[in-house]
Order: sequence, then structure tokens, then C-alpha cells
Amino acid sequence: MKGIILHGGHGTRLRPLTHTGPKQLLPIGNKPMSQYCIESLKEAEVTEIAIIVGGIGANKVREYYGDGEKLGVKISYIEQNEPKGIAHAINLCQNFIGNEKFIVFLGDNIIQKSIRNFAQKFDKSNSDASILLCKVNDPSRFGIADIKDNKIIKIIEKPKNPPTNLAVTGIYFLTPVIFKIFEVLQPSWRNELEITDALQLLLENKYKISYDMITDYWKDTGTPEDIIHANGVILEKMESYFHGIKENGFKSKGKVMIGKNTKIEKDVEIQGPVIIGENCIIKSKSKIGPNISIGNNTKISQVDIAKSIIMSDCVIEGDLKIRDSIISNNSQIIVTESHNTNEKIFLLGEGTKIIF
Ligand code: DAU
Repeated sequence: MKGIILHGGHGTRLRPLTHTGPKQLLPIGNKPMSQYCIESLKEAEVTEIAIIVGGIGANKVREYYGDGEKLGVKISYIEQNEPKGIAHAINLCQNFIGNEKFIVFLGDNIIQKSIRNFAQKFDKSNSDASILLCKVNDPSRFGIADIKDNKIIKIIEKPKNPPTNLAVTGIYFLTPVIFKIFEVLQPSWRNELEITDALQLLLENKYKISYDMITDYWKDTGTPEDIIHANGVILEKMESYFHGIKENGFKSKGKVMIGKNTKIEKDVEIQGPVIIGENCIIKSKSKIGPNISIGNNTKISQVDIAKSIIMSDCVIEGDLKIRDSIISNNSQIIVTESHNTNEKIFLLGEGTKIIF
């Protein structure tokens, strides 16, 4: 089987974080979220992968993943000149897929469970497509499946009155039959070629679509809150390690992952899950965690920070309580005098400087 990862789109809902790069490269647990998709495919023994790139920062994707060798996979890139829909993106891969079965992963979907068994089951089955469903609280945000007697009877994109709360997740097991359907597919109300409409047409044309349920964690990281939530869940799954330098008197609890050359000074409190990259300095009196990722070369001084992602090369200094924030590479927040201790929320694009 081959794999396709969707890495295009404009990421408008995540601005300003996505002004300088695609949303799928935003880090979760200090790794771009799309890297989890590649690792998931590799673990399912799918190593020939096409990445659909387009829009802002397509070159950043190429630069980061290269030919895939570092991750033990073979990656080729297919350009989508405009985000005309998930089905449109998949259709660009017809030559790459040839006659094989394949798995499509939306690059902004995070799943905790291995897809290996699903992949093997689909490979052996006579299904024309297979999807993974997950119960959600807000079904109008997703493609939704209606089911009767354990069979899918309808698939609808973002219905106003959802018949069920079973979201169609962004991991699709497909066969080349889908390309025939794409030939007759019409754009939707949002002017996109929808994969859900293509699946519905498969059903209407009596093709067989099977499904499995995801009962573990799955997240479409559409909003900053989703990204921060996924970050906490991923960090909880990691094994603790400490490759840094610690001063006496530093306290830590829970899952804590500290990279090379990162210095943790005395009187720092770390409440896991927390990951801190390489070459960081965490100065005295800082309180870090729970649910914090900090990239490389970042300096934190005296800050109390929880439920947030701080990327690389940042400086955050001063008497400040930060919550529910995402702070992009190369940003600075410097507090020059004592302010009230209310919690602050930041959503900062790359290179932002705030001094107050
Ligand atoms: O996450 C699951 C949901 O993903 C499904 O339940 C929906 O049925 C499906 O339509 C999709 O909904 P979204 O509205 O969340 O899709 P979004 O526009 O965010 O695109 C999903 C991913 O695919 C995202 O990583 C960007 C990429 N993409 C999207 C489009 C429209 C492309 O690479 N090219 C495109 O043309």
C-alpha cells in the first residue's frame, strides 16, 4: 500500500501562527504534527508516501522532510496550486498510486492509536474503501456517517442537523476505484471537491465501504485549543528523560523530557507533562507546566506558564502568568515592571516582540 499526506490548504483559522508556514508543521511535543502521520504510516509498513503541498510554506515542508530518508520512508511531493478540496488533492496522486490500495492522512489529524491493524485488515479485505469513525461532541464541524445495522448508509459533510455524532476522521483507506468517482464529483457549497461527497457517491454506486471506530484519542487540530490539548495528550505518552544540566533545588513531578544542554536553575518548579528542547535556559523562580512544550534555544525567566506551546529561539522574561498560549519561533515577551498577576493568553506569529 502507498500513503498520501495532505499538507496544503491556507490554515486561515490558525492565523497568525500560519502566516509564515503551513499549519501541519506547527509543533506538538516539539515535532511537526504531520510527522506523526508519517510515523503512523511507517509503523503500518507504508513507506512510499506522497505529500501534497501548496500555499504558504510549501518549501518549508520540502526542506524539513527532504526525501524522507531521515524518517526511514520515501517521500515525493505533489503540488496543489489551490486548495480545491481533499478529493481534488487526492486526485492529483493518480499516477503515484497506480493500481495499489492506499491510505490518505490529513496532515492536521492526530491519532494516538496505531493504524497498523486497520491497514492490514483493509489490505486483506474486499472493501472499496474504509473509514475510521470517532464519537464527537460537535458533529457539525465534521464529515458525519449515518449507520444502520452496522452498515454505513450515508456520509455527509458538516451537516446542520447531524444524524449521528460519528465523525469521519481524516484517515481514509482507499482503492483506485475512487478515481472513477472523482471524474463525476461536483464542487460543494464551499466550492471544494469533498472526500465525503466522493464516499457518498461510492455508497450510491453500491461499492462497499467498511468502517472501524477509534475509541482512543483523535483530534482534528483546527483551533489553537485543539493543538494545545493534543500537545498535553502526546506528552503524557512519552517516556521521561533528562539530558540537560540541573542546579540543586529544582523540583519536578510527572512526565518531564529535557533536551541536551538545557539548563534548569535552582528554584524552578516543573510539573509534567513538560518537554523542553536543547540549549534552553530556565531561570530561577520559573514555574513550568503542566502541558508545556518548549522548543530549542529558548530562555524563560521567572515566568509561570501552563497549557502552552513555546517554539524555538524565544525569550520570555518577567513576572508573568501565561496560559493557553502558542508562541511562535523567535518571539520575545519581556515584562519590565511588576503588573497584576492575571493570567495572560498569547497567540503570537513568528518574530513577535512584546515589551510591557
Ligand atoms: O479532520 C476530519 C475532517 O477533515 C473530516 O471530518 C471532514 O469530513 C473533512 O472534510 C475535513 O474537514 P476540514 O474542514 O477540517 O478540512 P480542512 O479544510 O481543514 O482540510 C483538511 C486537511 O487537508 C488540512 O491539513 C489541509 C489539507 N488540505 C485541504 C484542502 C481543502 C489540502 O492539502 N488541500 C486542500 O485542497
